[in-house]
Amino acid sequence: MDSFSALIRTASHEQHVEAETSTFMSDPLGGRLDVEAYARYTEQLWFVYEALEAGAERLASDPVAGPFVRPELFRLAALERDLTHLRGPEWRAGLSALPATRAYADRVAECARAWPAGYIAHHYTRYLGDLSGGQIIRDRAEKTWGFTRKGDGVRFYVFEEIANPAAFKRSYRELLDEVRADDLEKQRIVAECKRAFALNTGVFRALGEEFPLSA
Ligand code: HEM
Repeated sequence: MDSFSALIRTASHEQHVEAETSTFMSDPLGGRLDVEAYARYTEQLWFVYEALEAGAERLASDPVAGPFVRPELFRLAALERDLTHLRGPEWRAGLSALPATRAYADRVAECARAWPAGYIAHHYTRYLGDLSGGQIIRDRAEKTWGFTRKGDGVRFYVFEEIANPAAFKRSYRELLDEVRADDLEKQRIVAECKRAFALNTGVFRALGEEFPLSA
């Protein structure tokens, strides 16, 4: 049987293509959306990472999810710097979650609270993606909206404490392969990963409605 890291990757491949090619992901990136859309997207990410990272401290000692909790991944502080840059020091006052974002963040919080193995699915979907395609998004955002390379506005995509992302991803896949879960639980994690991708696509769809593209 394939390793669990290969299984989860293959199982989510189709949805990865869908997420990657959603209008909102491919178009900011194609240059037709303005920086306001990017700021709104960054705000949505804040809610998701707040849910991921608020639960992390307690989960650090959990036998299943604990090994995945790595402070060098934490993104909330970087997001807050980006939002200060994008929205100004009062960014919190204008922050609001789209219903799709609320649903996503609630599901992450629910897993963090009650199902550590499910939390891993959300952790994988976001952090491994940020370490991979996130770097392409950063590059395009810098070029499209003129952010300083790896500076304010795109700090979310910069993992200051991970010198070698490729090596980090390899060790992360080893953690996945050693996850303390039986085959049935692994299937459930894969299903939750698909759900995590669908929740992301839901946020992109909602943002696409808020920022329709002029032809
Ligand atoms: C423009 C948007 C995106 C681009 C260009 C992109 C691109 C990529 C690339 C090049 C990889 C590396 C594949 C490899 O290691 O061989 C990757 C991996 C990954 N991406 Fe994306 N991606 C995008 C959006 C997303 C989104 C929205 C998510 C989910 C929220 C996501 C989740 C992942 C995950 C979990 C992996 C790791 C797969 C694995 O190795 O197990 N990506 N992406």
